[in-house]
Amino acid sequence: MAAAADDHGLTFRQDYFGDPAAWAALVSLLENTFGIDVSIQDRFGGPDPTSMPFGYFDANGVCAANFSTFSMPMMIDGRLVKAAGFQSGAVRPQWRGRGLYRDLMNRAFGWCDDQGFELGLLLTDKPAMYEPYGFTILPQQKFVGAPPLEMRLAGTVRELSLDNTGDIALVRRVLRERTPVSSVFAVMAQAEMFLLNGFFDPDVRLTYLDQFEAVVAWKEDETSFQLLDIAGKTIPPLAAILQALDQRPGRVEVCFPPDRLDWQGKPETFESDISLMVRGSPAGLSGPVMLSPMAEF
Ligand SMILES: CC(C)(COP(=O)(O)OP(=O)(O)OC[C@H]1O[C@@H](n2cnc3c(N)ncnc32)[C@H](O)[C@@H]1OP(=O)(O)O)[C@@H](O)C(=O)NCCC(=O)NCCS
Repeated sequence: MAAAADDHGLTFRQDYFGDPAAWAALVSLLENTFGIDVSIQDRFGGPDPTSMPFGYFDANGVCAANFSTFSMPMMIDGRLVKAAGFQSGAVRPQWRGRGLYRDLMNRAFGWCDDQGFELGLLLTDKPAMYEPYGFTILPQQKFVGAPPLEMRLAGTVRELSLDNTGDIALVRRVLRERTPVSSVFAVMAQAEMFLLNGFFDPDVRLTYLDQFEAVVAWKEDETSFQLLDIAGKTIPPLAAILQALDQRPGRVEVCFPPDRLDWQGKPETFESDISLMVRGSPAGLSGPVMLSPMAEF
């Protein structure tokens, strides 16, 4: 595997986030490749401490190529599954087509196998690239239906802003203490992506329900109410959420299996150019599932 570095005069580095210059070089690679500025994470407590980046750097410290993995424990069919996510895969245009990414994929997947991860997850618009490594597409389905009957609610609600440091601290605390939003398919713990996704999508609203010590991530349009995620010590029933948010939609879309919401929706294909792919086959990964958009990475 060292051949890729030797051939191109690049230096391979792993686990380099402790070096601020190398982190800045990755931020630049991702900004140039995807047009997103992940340095905003510094405002939310920094990058995921479980991240394990694999990268190639040139003599000037430019990050030519990168592929990262991070720990993403999942609740699947009532069982804790040791899962890893893969993200930040990019090669600068002048370095493409030379096998650098193949090298980094081999290193990252091999490292995860050595660590005993039983499931790998990634999101991609290039699924064919990952099939040779054992990844298959996991079709996603959202859950759609009429709203439940209204219910009375005690407690107060407050809209949060990720521009407010107090609100960021509250969201981080709730994320640390959260219970999985579904026992069928949900992340157990992963704060960084929730915060980034909430920040990058201006249509996402975050509302705190103090009675449940829960932050509800949601959206609305003319026809429907979209429930994206709930980070909370307890999971409120859907009826309580709609009451708290003063929403009376004609239709509800839940973007994760709704088994903890005291409501049932009909699974409906989630259309997207981005595929969720999995490597490994933990028991129970058969029913209709959707990864919460707040956990996308
Ligand atoms: C996709 C990307 C990372 C590939 O990097 P690269 O260094 O040129 O890839 P490699 O030369 O190591 O090729 C690795 C393998 O992927 C395949 N591949 C490369 N680009 C591909 C694409 N767009 N679609 C499908 N397969 C692709 C290659 O054919 C090669 O297959 P092989 O091992 O069977 O020969 C690079 O083009 C890139 O940064 N693109 C923009 C960002 C992006 O799409 N990132 C991936 C996010 S999921």
